Amino acid sequence: MCGIIGYIGERQAPDILIDGLQKLEYRGYDSAGIAVFDHNSIKVIKTEGKVSALAKKKAAADLQEVHCGIGHTRWATHGEPSDINAHPHSVGRVTLVHNGIIENYAELGERYHPSPLSRTDTEIAAAVINACYHGDAVSAIFEAVNMFHGAYALCIMFEDQPDTVYAIRKSSPLIVAVGENETFLASDIPAILSHTKDYYLPEKGELAILTKQGVRFVGATGESIEKELKTADWDESAARKNGYDHYMLKEIFEQPAVIEQTILRYKNDFTIFENEDFDFEVKGNIHIVACGSAYHAGLMGKYAIEKLARVPVLVHIASEFRYDNPILHKDDLVIAISQSGETADTLAAVRLAKEHNVRTLGIVNVRGSSLSRLADHTLYTLAGPEIAVATTKAYLCQVCLLQLLAVRMAGKGLTMQEYKDMMVAFEALPAQIEQALSFCDDAKALAEKFKNAEHIFFMGRGQDSCLAMEASLKLKEISYIHSEAYAAGELKHGTISLITENTPIISIMTDRNRLPKTASNLKETGARGALITAVTYSDVRADAYTDEQISIPVMNEMTAPLIAAVKLQLLAYYVALSKGCDIDQPRNLAKSVTVE
Ligand code: AGP
Repeated sequence: MCGIIGYIGERQAPDILIDGLQKLEYRGYDSAGIAVFDHNSIKVIKTEGKVSALAKKKAAADLQEVHCGIGHTRWATHGEPSDINAHPHSVGRVTLVHNGIIENYAELGERYHPSPLSRTDTEIAAAVINACYHGDAVSAIFEAVNMFHGAYALCIMFEDQPDTVYAIRKSSPLIVAVGENETFLASDIPAILSHTKDYYLPEKGELAILTKQGVRFVGATGESIEKELKTADWDESAARKNGYDHYMLKEIFEQPAVIEQTILRYKNDFTIFENEDFDFEVKGNIHIVACGSAYHAGLMGKYAIEKLARVPVLVHIASEFRYDNPILHKDDLVIAISQSGETADTLAAVRLAKEHNVRTLGIVNVRGSSLSRLADHTLYTLAGPEIAVATTKAYLCQVCLLQLLAVRMAGKGLTMQEYKDMMVAFEALPAQIEQALSFCDDAKALAEKFKNAEHIFFMGRGQDSCLAMEASLKLKEISYIHSEAYAAGELKHGTISLITENTPIISIMTDRNRLPKTASNLKETGARGALITAVTYSDVRADAYTDEQISIPVMNEMTAPLIAAVKLQLLAYYVALSKGCDIDQPRNLAKSVTVE
């Protein structure tokens, strides 16, 4: 996720742009920049680092009467954070900022811009628009974006069109806001709420043209488009959460977008930039080390890598690994998973691996974090900054990235049909997650059944037992209800002694081969009065042995647990909400455990 902003009006643009970027830093903050029309030429100021570093550079610049410009704060997807890779990017007469991913930027670059200055997809986008531009901005923009595959929100300026900003989007968010004799562009409303509450929502294929006279919208043939003006009813605090009551809910709802970004970034291309020399073949074992939810993601990764790539995977709790005197071989690979990249035990585990001269790969959400600097190689989840202590979008991106990595590691070991099936599954995932988010009302109702429980049990088989662990952690860490997760087959080896009348059991059943066995386990608990909820496909008739069914669409069994995860995140959220718990900052917990 990145933050983009634009302004045109009677006030000084640079200060408004920087103020807006500061409000968008929760979307990304590894580099930032602005481009402004200064005396009819475009001046670009950009820097690695936070918006505060940009503000210092702006203060040192000799900007005169500047009333039009665009700005960007970055969460890097292609190319490490640096002055060169920071947005805005200029090619020829075009300067622009971009939020999203141009998936086919490499082939477009070969054709339009073979020697780029930066390592970003965005510079290529500027080059393509510039190549299409012969004086008519509207046709140039539409001609260019028709070549783009992926997601984008673009704010564009042309050297020979002073005091005019163009904006167009596909999948990535963008609003156009209107004030008194001034117009704004922003990734979302918080950036401009202090100036105006009136805004338009441009749809895909609608080009916004901002001038001092206001904004108009046109289609691909230049036809005028009438848009409904909306009014935000948020205060500043609500705005920071984009209108959601809690960061956790906001981040749950960001999952379709961030999963789409992760898939677009990695489904065809792991090797660009950060990992040009990374050998995806592992001759020894893979050791995954992590803590908490990241550990649970690692368990899901084990399942995917062993199933698809047939490489042995051992998953270790990092705080155990570092004292276990682990058995490591020079051909092994240690994969450390961490949202923050600052978890002390995970860092210590990586240091131990390096002492054994074992290759290390970090899967990290925060660029520049300790883990990204310690590991030999790093793959970034593209979840964007995660504020709520209970991780949701970062966990889901970790699982998705591990599944993409499993396909990449499998390489030619997959048949063409198996590969195509996985690509189809990934393509469908963002929309399936979007659809799963409509579960809120059902989750609220179900939460009423669970909110007074003393103990809740989660169970599953295969990767469902891994998801059960994450679902259990999510519930207990924000609702303070004791919860445990079990491999379903383990129930009769002890835990079933705890099952009494109305003991809530939530069973995750996305592995069709193991479904009958899990159904038998549920019948055993049902015979003892358990209150059973099954999370399974809509075509599974579980009502004979369950009290409730949380349905997920009939879909690929590898990616199905991600949809189950979203619904169980929402259930945990509404149980905690019904109990009046502090959802974003649960008692005793910190977002990153930087101590042992
Ligand atoms: C999960 O909701 C918790 N916030 C916690 O378990 C977290 O996943 C764990 O502390 C690991 O953090 P990391 O991903 O930043 O290393």
